[in-house]
Order: sequence, then C-alpha cells, then structure tokens
Amino acid sequence: MSLACGVDVGGTKILAGVVDDEGTIVEEARVESPATDVDAITTAVAGLVDDLAKRHDFAHVGVGAAGYIDKARSTVLFAPNIAWRDVDLRAHLEDRTGKAVVIENDANAAAWGEFTYGAGADIDDFLLITVGTGVGGGLVLDGALYRGAFGIGAEIGHMRVVPGGILCGCGNLGCFEMYASGNALVRMAREAAEAGRADDLLKRAGGSVESINGPLVTAAAREGDSVAIALLGELGRWLGEGIASLTAVLDPATVAIGGGVSEADELLLEPAREGFLSQLTGRGHRPELVIRKATLGDRAGLIGAADLARR
Ligand code: BGC
Ligand code: NA
Ligand code: ZN
Repeated sequence: MSLACGVDVGGTKILAGVVDDEGTIVEEARVESPATDVDAITTAVAGLVDDLAKRHDFAHVGVGAAGYIDKARSTVLFAPNIAWRDVDLRAHLEDRTGKAVVIENDANAAAWGEFTYGAGADIDDFLLITVGTGVGGGLVLDGALYRGAFGIGAEIGHMRVVPGGILCGCGNLGCFEMYASGNALVRMAREAAEAGRADDLLKRAGGSVESINGPLVTAAAREGDSVAIALLGELGRWLGEGIASLTAVLDPATVAIGGGVSEADELLLEPAREGFLSQLTGRGHRPELVIRKATLGDRAGLIGAADLARR
C-alpha cells in the first residue's frame, strides 16, 4: 500500500491527511487558515506535514490551494481571496519538509478526488463546482484533469455574470462567485437581516447580524424558515444558470456541487436544477446532465491532492 499526504488550503481552514491508494484517509489534521499571511500559511502547512510524517511513511505531498497555480504545479500566481502573489509554494514546502511536493488548484484537486473515488467515479466528463468562500471549478474531460494552456483553466468563479456587478476579491465586477458562493449566501442573509426581512435568522444569531453564517442559514432552512429557504433558492438558481452556460461550452455528463454550502442538499440542488433547465439552450431536444451533490465532503481536496501527488 502506498501512502501520500494531501493538504487543502482554503480561505478559512487548512486540512491535511495521509491517504492510501484507495482514497482512504489514515490520519487527518486541521488548523485555521491564516489567510492574510502567506508565510504563516507555508509554516502551518509544513507543520501539519512534518507532524503526520512522524507517524506515517510517505514521500509525496499534494497541496490544493485556492488560487491560480502555474502549469508546473509549483507557483501560486494569484489568489482572489488569499494574499498569494507569485509565491513558489512548492519550493518553500520542499525546503521545509524534505518531501516531493506538487501544488494544485483546490477545486481541481477536489474534482480529481471526486472523479477517482466519489461523485464522478462512473463518468468521463465531469465538472465539480465548489461552493465555499469562493466558487471553484474542477474539470475532468475524457478522463483527464483539464488544466488549460497555463494551468489555470476552469476558474469558473470569475466568469462575469453581472456587468457592473458586485466587486469581487479578484478586482473585477460581477463575477459568478459574488452571486453563487457561500460568502454570497452570507452577504444576502445579512442584508436581509439588516433590512428587517430575516427576524428568525437574526434571532438564531443571537441578535447580531455579523454572527449570521452559512451553516446557520442552512440549519434554519432545514427547520422550515422561509427566508433561509428562499436565500438558498436564490443561490441555487445562480448556480444552475451558471451551469447552463458552462454546459454550452463543456457538455459534461455530471456536475457535482461540493463545498460547505452543498450540505444544504436538495434545498440548494433543487433550485439549481430549476435554474439550469430554465437557461438550458435546446431544452427538450438534447440530453440533460445530472446535477448531484459531491460525496467526499470537505475531504475531497486533500484526497485528490494526495492522489495527484503520487501519480
Ligand atoms: C479562486 C479559485 C478557487 C476557488 C475556490 C476562487 O476564488 O479563484 O482558484 O479554486 O475560489 O476556492
Ligand atoms: Na480550478
Ligand atoms: Zn472575480
């Protein structure tokens, strides 16, 4: 059995794990992500890897990072929601850990994990959309992970969906992730609370608008709160309409939705399917892809990164 280490560096947390070649996590560890301090991120990742290396024998480390990774799988060129700018993360981590490291986009890593062991295991053309801090895309075409000419393909979070729309962390206006991410859900919920349209949510948050977060909205929706249900419905429709546009280009067999907000299950997926069908060109005259929940949860990224590292 061959072991590899996988790490997923997101906007809020860093998850690491030792993974065997069946995709099973042997041991895992997590810390909060110091998202504004890139040196602290490197130190935190190296610390997790060193610690796991004390108890497990692995040579390869795969790191999924929420940003634009160069084709050499080494440098984080840019990240909309983390302070990375042209950071050779691979070199830094190889120096500190003595392991062979590859860096991969977090959503690409998660898509590879889902394709190999999860929601995409039965198909060849697969898109994973991660709905969390941002919106990530990971694309498997004809059984291979698609990286694009420069390594930074499938950045679906930064498609412009609203001309002159909300300012994105990337600097542009109206990006998809401003409307379809977990952060967008929280923004919409807080706006509703501030406008006096979400008293139940506000009550759940102990009266503090700032305490409204994604899990709170999902919990309220599950218990029948109509405002929370409508907010997830709006997010789902944005996602579905985006998937319709992506389908025009990519024609995948399955789109899986992952990331924290996918925990809302059908409260998100049903409106996503409706939004998708409402915007699908040729509806009724063409096959319709399947929209389903990702199955590996927040471990998809580290599982996929570990597998990509040992290949
Ligand atoms: C970043 C992607 C990342 C996604 C999910 C987006 O803002 O541009 O690189 O995959 O967030 O973390
Ligand atoms: Na990607
Ligand atoms: Zn953007």
